[in-house]
Amino acid sequence: MGIERMPFGKTADGKEVSRFKLTNAAGAYVQIINYGGIITAINLPDREGRLGDVVLGYDSLEEYVQDRNYFGAIIGRTANRTENACFELEGVEYKLGKNEGNNHLHGGVAGFNKALWDAEMVGSKDGESLLLSYLGKDGEEGYPGNLQARVRYTFTDKNELVMEYGAISDRDTVVNLTNHSYFNLSGHQSGSVLGHKLMICGDRFTPIDSALIPSGEIRSVAGTPMDFMELTAIGARIGWDDGQLLHAGGYDHNWILGNGGKVPEKAAEVVDETSGRVLEVFTTKPGIQFYSGNFLDSVLGKEGALYGKRSGFCLETQYFPNSMKHKHFPSPVLKAGEEYRSTTIYRFSVVA
Ligand code: BGC
Repeated sequence: MGIERMPFGKTADGKEVSRFKLTNAAGAYVQIINYGGIITAINLPDREGRLGDVVLGYDSLEEYVQDRNYFGAIIGRTANRTENACFELEGVEYKLGKNEGNNHLHGGVAGFNKALWDAEMVGSKDGESLLLSYLGKDGEEGYPGNLQARVRYTFTDKNELVMEYGAISDRDTVVNLTNHSYFNLSGHQSGSVLGHKLMICGDRFTPIDSALIPSGEIRSVAGTPMDFMELTAIGARIGWDDGQLLHAGGYDHNWILGNGGKVPEKAAEVVDETSGRVLEVFTTKPGIQFYSGNFLDSVLGKEGALYGKRSGFCLETQYFPNSMKHKHFPSPVLKAGEEYRSTTIYRFSVVA
């Protein structure tokens, strides 16, 4: 039980990176590195009690440095896409780093996923937690304000990975932090996730254009392949001749959650009948991006595993993408001196 710290190589400029192993009383464990705050492994029992690692990742730091899939990482300062890589805040236009055509994706070229975070182990009501902190500088990737960001990871004895995000800025800015883990509940090396069953607690989504950016429309899921109100196999409708699926080559959309935003409420559930493992996601955030790993293409991962298209899925809790452009979307603006707070929980269990 508790947290162990181990070396995990050095960055190009010679800084030591650590890997933290968070083990709970049930013997399950999570591994996190302070480079990018990346979750590198989540080892959980299946229905027979056998431990298996349910997140995609790499064996070495070098591979995480090279990675373009955001495996397991903290995404910041803002998750997902900002159209034309610019936004307006109080009459001033800010230009962000362009790292996907003309757009800004997941915090830019050197987002929070490529930063070395300070790490400390701290006590919490559920035992020990790993607290990571990073100062995003004023002007970094074009964002205004020095932003002191924190993520606290706790792995409880009930197999819940709790992620508490906090941030404070000295100027008005925008913040939308998330985690970009790719799950495969059969085990990271098990191939396609199309047989996993998914439920999303949202009856509306934000349709995208051909650049995968929400147009501003809010649409009901009723009668569309976006309807995951009841557990449905990820692959059941992914091949439909549907404009939204065709834009993204599968699912890569934001669902609108009906939560109150104060305490974490259920946002999604995934059941893998093969292993019996279940993932439930709880969050205070207003939206969740379900991405079905459409762009994965023969990625050489941990223990020699080869990750092909749709061999992992992401459930990224967030403010809606491109929300600075659409004033009817919940606002990601953080006022100077105010505190940004959000919590997301991945709760794991098994079914018989
Ligand atoms: C996005 C995808 C993108 C992926 C990067 C997801 O959050 O929605 O469009 O390709 O991240 O690996």
